[in-house]
Amino acid sequence: MPPAEKSPWWKHAVIYQVYIRSFADSDGDGVGDVSGIRSRLPYLKNLGVDALWINPWYPSPMVDAGYDVADYREVDPLFGKLDDAKALIEEAHEAGLRIILDIVPNHTSDQHAWFKDAIVSGPGSEARGRYWFRPGQGENGELPPNDWQSTMGGPAWTRVTEADGTPGEWYLHLFSAEQPDLNWSNSQVRAEFLDILRFWFDLGVDGFRIDVAMALAKDPALPDLGTGPAGEAVGLGSVPVHPHWDRDEVQDIYREWRAVADSYPGDRLFVAEAWVLDSARYQRYLAPGVLHTAFNFGFLTCDWDADQLRTSITKSLREHETLESDPTWVLSNHDVVRHLSRYGRREKSAAGPLQRYESPLDLRLGTRRARAAVFLTLALPGSAYIYQGEELGLWEVEDIPEALLQDPIWERSGHTERGRDGARVPLPWRGTQSPFGFSPDHSRAPWLPQPAEWAEYTVECQEADSRSMLSLYRTLLRIRAERNVWEGADLAWIDGEDGLLAFSRGPFVCAVNLTDHAMPCPVEGKLVAASNKFDGLTLAADSAVWLETS
Ligand code: GLC
Ligand code: MG
Repeated sequence: MPPAEKSPWWKHAVIYQVYIRSFADSDGDGVGDVSGIRSRLPYLKNLGVDALWINPWYPSPMVDAGYDVADYREVDPLFGKLDDAKALIEEAHEAGLRIILDIVPNHTSDQHAWFKDAIVSGPGSEARGRYWFRPGQGENGELPPNDWQSTMGGPAWTRVTEADGTPGEWYLHLFSAEQPDLNWSNSQVRAEFLDILRFWFDLGVDGFRIDVAMALAKDPALPDLGTGPAGEAVGLGSVPVHPHWDRDEVQDIYREWRAVADSYPGDRLFVAEAWVLDSARYQRYLAPGVLHTAFNFGFLTCDWDADQLRTSITKSLREHETLESDPTWVLSNHDVVRHLSRYGRREKSAAGPLQRYESPLDLRLGTRRARAAVFLTLALPGSAYIYQGEELGLWEVEDIPEALLQDPIWERSGHTERGRDGARVPLPWRGTQSPFGFSPDHSRAPWLPQPAEWAEYTVECQEADSRSMLSLYRTLLRIRAERNVWEGADLAWIDGEDGLLAFSRGPFVCAVNLTDHAMPCPVEGKLVAASNKFDGLTLAADSAVWLETS
């Protein structure tokens, strides 16, 4: 195990998100796997991160890329065996890297033993009580029980066929129809997940990312939600008490989880995927005895705009002032457009997870801004997340042929939303053509096609280039770890021209110019690192520096 530290490791850790199916493929089936991760531990260690968050690797029909779990205590054969997972955990620990798994508590797969049992057991059964089964409305129950919508498009209800062949009850699924929602007021459901947490904690994992953490509790009366003024679905934050998002009862669930985590040695971590932007509501997840941290989606959804970012950072710092928890900083993940592509546009509305753009990507602009952005995220107080491939300067692949799209959003939206595949394309490691070392030579094609241009973005290429994105990430991570300066010191804003974002933490200064013109650097100091050429006086457009003042 890594050496004991004075404050919990997660307060200042840099956590690398491994999107397993696109990270490294060891067996040549075109899909990343556990052994692929094992083979790249030296790369991750060398990059300088502290922990890995691995997206779901459990047995799954893979309708939603593994977020439809059929068995929470195994590894899908596509990714390897449970023994591979055990070996990975051990080897990662030997290398000083922690392992965070992804737990999916809101729903199971429709192929989970519980759901299959619920289907055959029929209305009123104990098995159906673990999910949300209800009779339909209308004369023959032909209408869904209420008006809730699936986040993946279409109604949140699907009707089952009963054992005698007749159309029967409906079940709730806030995501795809293959992801039935569990009933968290059911004591068996609660006990089962405590046991699943123990199963993996016993194997040594250091924490869990909690999938859609704000969704678990539902109003048992299942009331209609109504529609907004333009007839649109009503989302989180638009009604005072929402029947299925961010209800007060979810924190009771996490208090039980926290007690399990606290019963293990070392500092085990929970990080919530909670799309909750209201400060008071967000803080509830991080209250004493609840969760340790949550993703900072307010920060992620900012445009490349100094005022927006300053406001968002100030809000986050304020939210955490009274909490044990520290802020997290995250710009990309497997659900949102890669930030290089969000920032690489002259148009502004870069925020929405499923954003589409009028203008084509300006790769040079996006790259410049992405370089500057990592100075910011790694200098802020708290922990930071890196989504695999951002250290290579990868962009969102926006031209995957429609016939190859895999995200269920594409089908469920009736081909109006392309979905999230563009952020999930397999990594380029070496060589000049696809699969770029993602799979061994002569393998099946990667599960999503890689752009030919990635020949210049491979790890191999970038290791040989001191000006590459990879070299920049390695340098900044090394500085952050070595100097240890970002732990503890409070952030103080430094004034400057419009479009400047600058702050000090103790003797260290981070200054970012978010405009398209050069401006004076607001302080003098010894240069620690710069995102591009820096003469000591002028910050170029879309650039950043770290300085040391005495
Ligand atoms: C989370 C995951 C996403 C998945 C959804 C349903 O938002 O990050 O990928 O589709 O939950 O489990
Ligand atoms: Mg494979």
